[in-house]
Amino acid sequence: MIMNNDNINRINENNNKAIPSFLVTGATGNIGSELIKILSRENVHVRAAVHSVSKSDKILSLGIRDIVEMDFDEPSEIQYSIFKEADKIFLLTPNFGTKGVSKILDEAKKAKVKHIIYLSSDSVSLKSLSSKGVEVFIYNEKIVQDSGIKHTILRPTAFMQNFLNNSFTIKTQNKFYLPWGNGKVSFVDTRDIASVIAKILLSDSEKYENKIYSITGLEVLSCNEIAMIFSEILGVNIEYVNVSEETAFNEMKKMGLSNVLIEYILDLSRIIKQDYASYISSSVEEITGKKPNTFKKFVEDYKYAFKQNIVL
Ligand SMILES: NC(=O)c1ccc[n+]([C@@H]2O[C@H](COP(=O)([O-])OP(=O)(O)OC[C@H]3O[C@@H](n4cnc5c(N)ncnc54)[C@H](OP(=O)(O)O)[C@@H]3O)[C@@H](O)[C@H]2O)c1
Repeated sequence: MIMNNDNINRINENNNKAIPSFLVTGATGNIGSELIKILSRENVHVRAAVHSVSKSDKILSLGIRDIVEMDFDEPSEIQYSIFKEADKIFLLTPNFGTKGVSKILDEAKKAKVKHIIYLSSDSVSLKSLSSKGVEVFIYNEKIVQDSGIKHTILRPTAFMQNFLNNSFTIKTQNKFYLPWGNGKVSFVDTRDIASVIAKILLSDSEKYENKIYSITGLEVLSCNEIAMIFSEILGVNIEYVNVSEETAFNEMKKMGLSNVLIEYILDLSRIIKQDYASYISSSVEEITGKKPNTFKKFVEDYKYAFKQNIVL
């Protein structure tokens, strides 16, 4: 269903050239919402594909009026009209979705989309990791690569924003619980991922076409080091509690996570424990010209979510 696809004049009055048009999927999520924010400041046309229309207020408040509803789980409803006139697409598949991806590529091809940026995961490059979750990313990457559409595949490491899921215990117990031992991870800020995507969408250069980039932050950190950063910024002692896989499983079950997601997280935890998720790539700086955010910057910017006296 198209909510508000106004007939928008896509010709730049200054140079008579068509204004570039981009389709952003996952537009209400961490990366998508930041990407929409960046693109709303540019002279481009943005179409936001949303799953829950009720979450579109923020997009509308940025002046984006072309909002379409799209559900990956309902491929038959993924129509050509969603892709029509889009020059480039940012494609984000919700956790472990493969449904709908082929249909999206078929319709995008019909609509003559020129370039697709697919958000995969760095877990694909962790050779020692075999997990159903990884197979999904490999499958989706292949569909994108085989589509014949020019593409860029981004493989980010674990997001700093995942720690927002630990904000409740950080606030109420000064603790966070993870089954990661003392393994180190090169976390990345989703705002940096959005900057990378925006740069590629806005670029006329062919240099990003048919390339795969690992997207990491600047530093590799263990959970004990992360606890020290939280303690410094929040001004209270925050403790990391290294829990068993069984405890982690039960807690994630209580949170309502799917079995595939839980298994994937636990498979990743084993890799993290062995320090296999701890290398650094320079892609963020190479593409955006800006160093990626540090974990300290992330906690400073999201302090409101972790501070005890602030109830969200
Ligand atoms: N977390 C990590 O550390 C990590 C690392 C590497 C890669 N990734 C990948 O990054 C992606 C998540 O990115 P994110 O954090 O920006 O997303 P997010 O904040 O989790 O949001 C997911 C987005 O997908 C939408 N969505 C959910 N189900 C959908 C469906 N059936 N059809 C269409 N859209 C749907 C959501 O809309 P509603 O809210 O309306 O449902 C939301 O806009 C996933 O593919 C994940 O595997 C994550």
